[in-house]
Amino acid sequence: MSVKFYQSENQVPLEMHKVRMIQKLSLLPVEERLKKIQEAGNNTFLLQNKDVYLDMLTDSGVNCMSDNQYAASFQADDSYAGSATFLRVRKAINDVFGCEYVLPVHQGRAAENILAEAFCGPGKVAFMNFHFTTTKAHATRVGSTVEELIQPKGLLPKSDEPFKGDYDLELLKKRIDEVGASNVAYVRVEAGTNLIGGQPVSLENMLAVTDICHDKGCLSILDASLLQDNIYFMKTREARCKFMEVGDIYRLLADHFDLIYFSARKLSFSKGGIITTKNESLYKQLMGYIPLYEGFLTYGGIDVRTMESMAVGLYESLDMEYISQGPEFINYLAKELDAYGVPVILPPGGLGCHLNAGAFVPDMPHNQYPAAAVGAALYIAGGIRGMERGTVSEQREPDGTERYAELELQRLAVPRRVFTLSQLKYVADRVKWLWDNRSLIGGLEWTEEPEVLRFFFGRMKEIGHWQEELAEKFRKDFGDSL
Ligand code: F0G
Repeated sequence: MSVKFYQSENQVPLEMHKVRMIQKLSLLPVEERLKKIQEAGNNTFLLQNKDVYLDMLTDSGVNCMSDNQYAASFQADDSYAGSATFLRVRKAINDVFGCEYVLPVHQGRAAENILAEAFCGPGKVAFMNFHFTTTKAHATRVGSTVEELIQPKGLLPKSDEPFKGDYDLELLKKRIDEVGASNVAYVRVEAGTNLIGGQPVSLENMLAVTDICHDKGCLSILDASLLQDNIYFMKTREARCKFMEVGDIYRLLADHFDLIYFSARKLSFSKGGIITTKNESLYKQLMGYIPLYEGFLTYGGIDVRTMESMAVGLYESLDMEYISQGPEFINYLAKELDAYGVPVILPPGGLGCHLNAGAFVPDMPHNQYPAAAVGAALYIAGGIRGMERGTVSEQREPDGTERYAELELQRLAVPRRVFTLSQLKYVADRVKWLWDNRSLIGGLEWTEEPEVLRFFFGRMKEIGHWQEELAEKFRKDFGDSL
């Protein structure tokens, strides 16, 4: 499966695809980058993409579609009800997951909204290996509490633990007993656990969670948004999966979980979202929410052309040559940075390379938002747009106090099939420069702080004038280079 290089010291991950459509990029001079990040309130979400050289904000909805996905999108059946396009999506879900019942939703969080409406509420606890921002916001909005039951080793930034996303199984049993099964909204497993660095959950652990849920009478839900990366790690890190077909793993999981949902912006290289199950009564319970919030049952708020590309993309998610590209590029970038001494989350996960901002600027207190500060600095250093995954991405406690993130991360997402290796080498180069100049990085303070999901639209400013000094240092070191 892997291609070995004759000169092993030159071994790099090799793409099994070629680029057949391009988008022009521009890299602004450092003085402009300084201006743009300040205008954006130091929030990378508020940068304009035209001002970004490498957009590593997310892997969501920005993966490269294949020729076959584009071709399929031209044969979409544009009808409000009973569209043949839906039948093709349902067939793809049947083939990949083996699930009969399929509900389309406009994206992952739309599924989370429906699951929150259906199962969460005051007095109900939603268990997760780790929360995701939108999942938690939906569950708490309707009055549930969210508890994270990840194994403590999952939160160590640097280890050789292959499955950091695993649940603490004993704790799960204990907490279900303490809370009482009837007060458990659901037990959710997030494959490729996003906020701790896209870290996988082992097949063994996932199946053990579903066994516990079955024994105790709790609903088990798999968030499969990052499942394709997770399956790559199962295949390469878990002995029992080595000789399993990728498709066998999808179907085994679907046999065990009561419900599966995913953001098709990640799984399937397209857009939209899906809730799927083998359980008819769960399907019927959720069905009514689709026309209420999303659209009719056969499109769920998704454009039919996108649905066609989703169907093809789901089959592509079975192909190791496709699903290995993301994790292998991320591994390359993380190892390159680690070798230089830059603190990154290890072992590398899926989704992106995660800089450990807490260790990048160790003296900066959480309330000066180290992860956001490193992100702003990286945009100044290289026109690279990452995403804050630290304290800014948390919600304040109900009494208004800050909830400090377990890990202060700056995420550099690697959208699937999009970047070339030379672009990742450029990222490594600029991060190394920033690491050598880390003493110049200062903190940030709020100028506008929204109450809900503040990381999306909040604005901050530098404390002091460190950003001007960083830009000046860049100019000094790089001369007239962009
Ligand atoms: N679950 C996981 C694990 C996710 O990573 C995301 C989105 C969602 C659910 C929600 O899906 O965006 O389609 O509504 N993650 C994106 C990210 C936003 O950038 O990590 P969505």
